Amino acid sequence: MDFGIILAGGKGKRMKANKPKPLFEVLGRPMLEWVIRACENAGVSELCIVKGFCGEQIDTYLNGRYTTVLQAEQKGTGHAVQQAAEFLAKDTSGSTLVLCGDAPFLDAETIAQAKAQHDAQGNAVTVITANIQNPTGYGRILRTENGISGIVEEKDASMEQKAITEINSGAYWFRTGALLDALNSLGCENAAGEYYLTDTIAILLSKGEKAGAFCTENTDVILGANSQRDLLELNTLARMREIDKHLDNGVVFTCTDGITIEPDVEIGAGTQILAGTILRGKTVIGENCNIGPNCIIEDCNIEDGVQLNYVQAYKSTIEANVKIGPFVHIRPNSHIKQGVKIGDFVEIKNSVIGEGTAVAHLTYVGDSDVGKKVNFGCGTVTVNYDGIIKSRCVIGDNCFIGCNTNLVAPVKLGKYVYTAAGTTVTKDVPDYSLAIDRGAMTVKEGYSLRKFSSKIEYKDKK
Ligand code: UD1
Ligand code: CA
Repeated sequence: MDFGIILAGGKGKRMKANKPKPLFEVLGRPMLEWVIRACENAGVSELCIVKGFCGEQIDTYLNGRYTTVLQAEQKGTGHAVQQAAEFLAKDTSGSTLVLCGDAPFLDAETIAQAKAQHDAQGNAVTVITANIQNPTGYGRILRTENGISGIVEEKDASMEQKAITEINSGAYWFRTGALLDALNSLGCENAAGEYYLTDTIAILLSKGEKAGAFCTENTDVILGANSQRDLLELNTLARMREIDKHLDNGVVFTCTDGITIEPDVEIGAGTQILAGTILRGKTVIGENCNIGPNCIIEDCNIEDGVQLNYVQAYKSTIEANVKIGPFVHIRPNSHIKQGVKIGDFVEIKNSVIGEGTAVAHLTYVGDSDVGKKVNFGCGTVTVNYDGIIKSRCVIGDNCFIGCNTNLVAPVKLGKYVYTAAGTTVTKDVPDYSLAIDRGAMTVKEGYSLRKFSSKIEYKDKK
C-alpha cells in the first residue's frame, strides 16, 4: 500500500495569523486541499496529515476525511514525519509520498512521473527537484559523479553550495521501510538545531541504499507561500492560469480586473466575463452568456445566452436566455426558467420562476412556485415566514401581481389572477379573478388649507 504524508505543522510565522499556513486559500481553496487533491488524482489516497500550530483548525477543516497526527513541538520536517511513524508501520512494503502542505501547485502528473522513475530505478528515496534562477532559501541538491549525494539547507550551505541552482521541492517518494529506518537515525546537529527530513538522503546512501532525483521542468510545483505577499503571488499566478485555460476555450475577456475563476468552473465558448466577476465552486456556464460586471456566482448551472449584471447567485439553476440585474440576489435552491427577466433590487430564494415571467423591480420572492408569463409589479413581497414556520406561495400562469402586493403564505393564486395594487392576499384566489383588499378611497377637499393655514402663503390660497 502507498501512503501520503502531508506536512502542515509549521507555524508560518511570517503569515502573521492565528491560522495554519496550509489553510490559507489559493483560488478559494485551502493550499492543503490542493495538495490533497494532487495526491488523490495521483492515486495516493491513504493520507496522513501532520498538524501542529493551531492543529485543531486542520481537524475542523478535514472533518474526519483523513488521519491526522499532532506534532506538539515544531522541531523540523524530519521530526514532523517521525510523528507519522505509527501510521506508516501499518504496511512497510509499499511507498510513501511526503509533501509540504503549503506548496499547492505540485500536480498529480509530477507525482506520478516521479513515482515511475522511483520504481524504475529501485530507489529508497527519490526527491523531486527543479532548476531555478534564484535558489535562495531552498535546500540545494548535492551531486557527485554517482548521482545525488545529499541536500544542504541554505543556513548550512557553503558559498560554493549556495551557487547550486538545483533545489529541493520538499516532495519525495520513499520506500516506506527505508524511510522508517532513516527516521530513526536523524540527528539535529545543524544551524537550525532541527531534525531535517533532507538528511534522510545521505543517511540512506550511507546504508548502501539508492537515492535519486526527479528534476521537473514545471518549476511552478516548487512554489509555496511563506508570507501574505507570496500568497498573493500564488493567487495571481493561479488566477491567470485559469483565465488562460478559458481563453483557449473561446471565452471572451476584454480585461481581467478583479476576475477570479475557481478551478472547477466550466464556461462555454463565446461567453464574455466582465470585470469584478468571481465564479466559484462547481459553476457551469453555457455559451454566449454575458456575466458581469461584478457578479458572484457559486455552484450554479447557467444555460446559454444568459445575461447577469451585478448579480449574486448561489446553488441555483438559470435557464437559457434569462436576463438578470443589476443588483439581484438569487439565493440557494432557485430555478429560473427560460426567458425570465429579473430587474433591479430583487431577491429570489428557494423558488421556481416559470418561463417568460418578469420580476422587474424591488421584489422578494421566497419559497414560491411561480408559473409562466407572470408579471410582478414593483414592490411585491411573498410573506413566507410567520416567525415560526416558512410556507410556500403558488402563483399560476399569466398572473398579474399589482404593485406593493403582499402574498401571505401559504396562499395560492390560480391562473390569470389579478391583484390590485396594495393588496394583501391572505386566502386563495381562483382562476381569472381579481383580488382587491383596500378601503374605499375618500377625498377630503381643502384639508391642508385648514390644517396648515398659517404656513400656506396668501398667493397659493387663491
Ligand atoms: C524545506 C526543505 C528544503 C526545501 C523546502 C521547499 C527541510 C529541512 N528543508 O525547507 O530543503 O527546499 O522545504 O519548500 O526539510 N513543517 C512541519 N513541522 C516542522 C517544520 C515544518 O510540519 O517542524 C512543515 C511546514 O508546515 C511546511 C513543510 O513542513 O509545510 C516545510 O517546512 P518549512 O519550514 O517551510 O521548510 P523550509 O525551511 O522551507
Ligand atoms: Ca517553506
